[in-house]
Amino acid sequence: MKDDPFTSELKKERCTMKKLIALALTAAMMLSLAACSTTGAGGASSAPAASTSMASSKAATASGKTVGIAMPTQSSQRWIQDGGNLKSQLEALGYTVDLQYAEDDVQAQVSQIENMITSGADCLVVASIDSQALVNVLAQAKDNGIPVIAYDRLLMDTDAVSYYATFDNFGVGVEIAKYVEAKMDLANGAGPYNIEFFAGSPDDNNAHLFNDGVFSVLQKYLDNGQLVCQSGQTDFEQTAILRWSQETAQKRMEDLLAGYYSQGKNLDIALSMFDGFSYGIAAALEGAGYKVGEQWPVITGQDAELMACKNILSGKQSQTIYKDTRVLAEKCVGMVQAVMEGSEPEINDSKTYNNNVKVVPSYLCTPVSVDESNLKQLLVDSGYYTAEDLGL
Ligand code: BGC
Repeated sequence: MKDDPFTSELKKERCTMKKLIALALTAAMMLSLAACSTTGAGGASSAPAASTSMASSKAATASGKTVGIAMPTQSSQRWIQDGGNLKSQLEALGYTVDLQYAEDDVQAQVSQIENMITSGADCLVVASIDSQALVNVLAQAKDNGIPVIAYDRLLMDTDAVSYYATFDNFGVGVEIAKYVEAKMDLANGAGPYNIEFFAGSPDDNNAHLFNDGVFSVLQKYLDNGQLVCQSGQTDFEQTAILRWSQETAQKRMEDLLAGYYSQGKNLDIALSMFDGFSYGIAAALEGAGYKVGEQWPVITGQDAELMACKNILSGKQSQTIYKDTRVLAEKCVGMVQAVMEGSEPEINDSKTYNNNVKVVPSYLCTPVSVDESNLKQLLVDSGYYTAEDLGL
């Protein structure tokens, strides 16, 4: 049946309207694609395909919502990348972001989170300095109905945390230790080698897991004498370094060299669980007369900081752990979306991370060991650094 003139006009109008809506949607999609364009680790972050397609459909949830991000410090490169990646990925979805760094001052972090709560944050993402110091302020968040996501470091002793995005922390320790095992040919009985340990901050739950992972691989070589710790300091309480301080690591290495390695004994392995420690360790070794290429020990690390990567290429450091902070941010952003919408985020571990009050549902990203043999392939080919960044 042919339409009367009125119906026909109405259909034309609807058709034009549909075209306009389609055009507007395409434009919005192009904009979000542009906002999500991939850059390196230190930049505005890669926006993975998942986030890109999320952008248009989730914008409605995000609009007018604020996410408070509490980061521990800018003194180490990784947290600057983490903050930048989270901010850009959340902003691409339409959130307003309040990003704060507390420069390893626990009380400052408490105040920053308090301010986020009073200024009306809708969700909090927290990478703590002291995992146990935030119990009261997180209770305030809960009382105000603000969901909390633990970022990289577990928030202990609280039921206010909904989800946890991190790396396989035990796996980090295993990877570091397996590197040492292979490099020193320990599985074939080589040694004895002198080793000293530099573990992380005791108030960071991750540090305990890194340490457990390391000793799960190396304890047997200490027991059978293939590895010798001349200082005898193998307990976490003896090797832990408060607030992940490079200066403290350097001082500890100086003391160990003076106390246990002054009479012809050479240090063969400095098992460092953080790139920042590795710089301090290298400085102490240089101060004691060690030279790169001549009896220079194997030095491990964690985070694949740019300086550590350059040191790997020059032989000053042997290894580090690559944690792709772009992926971690993406997983965390998925959790933010889920708590805002009341849906389920992607998790892959629901039993490991007990914070003394609850087992926190987690997503564990995969850490990867890097040395000179795979550095270019892992870090440059993935766009984490450019060849120029590394002076290649
Ligand atoms: C992180 C490591 C980092 C360390 C020091 C830990 O909680 O998991 O990647 O090296 O803190 O910042």
